[in-house]
Amino acid sequence: MVNKTIIVSNRLPVKIVEHQGEYRLSPSEGGLATGLGSVYKKGDNIWVGWPGIEVPEERQAEVTEKLAELNLIPVFLTADEINLYYEGFSNEVLWPVFHYMVTYANFDQSYRDSYQQVNEKFSHIVASHLQEGDTVWVHDYQLLLLSALIREIQPQVLIGFFQHIPFPSYEIFRLIPWRDELIAGMLGADLLGFHTFDDVRHFLSAASRLPQVKVSDNIVSYKDRQIVVESFPMGIDSDKFEGLIAEPQVREHMRLFRKTMGERKVILTIDRLDYSKGILQRLQAYELLLQTHPELIGHISLYMIVVPSRDTVPRYKELRDQIDQLVGNINSSYRTMSWQPVYYFYRSFTIEFLSALYRTADVCLVTPMRDGMNLVSKEYVASRTEDTGVLILSEMAGASKELNDAIIVNPNNIGEVMRAILQAIQMPETEQIFRMKQMRAVVSKFNIHLWVKNFMEKLEEVKVLQESLRTK
Ligand code: G6P
Repeated sequence: MVNKTIIVSNRLPVKIVEHQGEYRLSPSEGGLATGLGSVYKKGDNIWVGWPGIEVPEERQAEVTEKLAELNLIPVFLTADEINLYYEGFSNEVLWPVFHYMVTYANFDQSYRDSYQQVNEKFSHIVASHLQEGDTVWVHDYQLLLLSALIREIQPQVLIGFFQHIPFPSYEIFRLIPWRDELIAGMLGADLLGFHTFDDVRHFLSAASRLPQVKVSDNIVSYKDRQIVVESFPMGIDSDKFEGLIAEPQVREHMRLFRKTMGERKVILTIDRLDYSKGILQRLQAYELLLQTHPELIGHISLYMIVVPSRDTVPRYKELRDQIDQLVGNINSSYRTMSWQPVYYFYRSFTIEFLSALYRTADVCLVTPMRDGMNLVSKEYVASRTEDTGVLILSEMAGASKELNDAIIVNPNNIGEVMRAILQAIQMPETEQIFRMKQMRAVVSKFNIHLWVKNFMEKLEEVKVLQESLRTK
């Protein structure tokens, strides 16, 4: 029997889009899909997850068949489940708390119940594909209970879990009414991975409060099992971003972009719509710069792309309105007949267009209030094949632990962010090159392929540890 790996995440790497009554598959550009492509497309390996929309029961067989050709197994969610498990517990409880925005959390019992029930649904689908010797790799905060649920059904299975968002300090985590069951759910895995050492530290601190848990170094002993907890900073497909620069379509976008922006210094920001990204604070810093340095008027522009996300969750809708208002205020107060301070786009763009922006922008401003890793900062660095350009990066992003040649800022300090923009647009080219070279070396070496390899290898090591414990 050939052993296989089952990847599980809330979303599949492709989504179903409905076009005139017909279902089509649309590939996701996400880093995870690229990185794990080498895993789930191999042999009997599969990826289990939600196809992104509500599919009526009578059409589920058709979708299942379409996805099966790509080694993908769908978990269908009802409208209620999307509302309570995904928008509710995942994005109105776990997301805000794990990003330290506790006042945004809504601790609703019906959210928690649906979260439990959907995690169970995932566990049954995974179990129906599970054979002895298989490995399961579970991803992210939407599935914190899943590892333990799978282990109940199949006690000997090897499970890895990776969390893509921060794990907060215990003083924050403890606010969640269901904190213990979340930790117990995660401890169903054999290996728990986080982006940074701080996330590991916070998790171990939270786990150590459970009565049956003992923590020693990075090993958690729980219910006669040992769980290894480690950091695996996620990388990107840096070769892909370097390679894109040579594409004719990208060159054309670059030419047009430069023609439009002329000699102006361009400051680029790209985010999903999210209050954790610090979009409003960043706009305030930019406004302060225009206010205090009128000589820059006409000579700089902020190019701001916000990718629509979770806009059915009230906080996200609210944020969108606030951004509209602030951008409107800045543009109406400072624009001239021939110059616009902020170019704001609320939509997604092709990877070729983004690549052209990365390659052309003088500065990339990445200032999340909190971020597990932040891959935009790495994509900007990988795209700077001539080693020029300046990255301004929040100290609250996991990436700041690796990209320490960026200008590192506290995103809450509007004055500091404003001064960082000034420093960036005035930075001599020799200094830009010095910093960018170091960062490019890091991004290129610690890429997504190495990340997958390191995690899978560690999981194999842990398997040996578990087997030796069992035979003791
Ligand atoms: C973050 C999370 C992912 C999530 C993505 C997009 O990167 O870590 O798990 O898939 O955001 O969010 P969405 O809610 O659209 O899946």
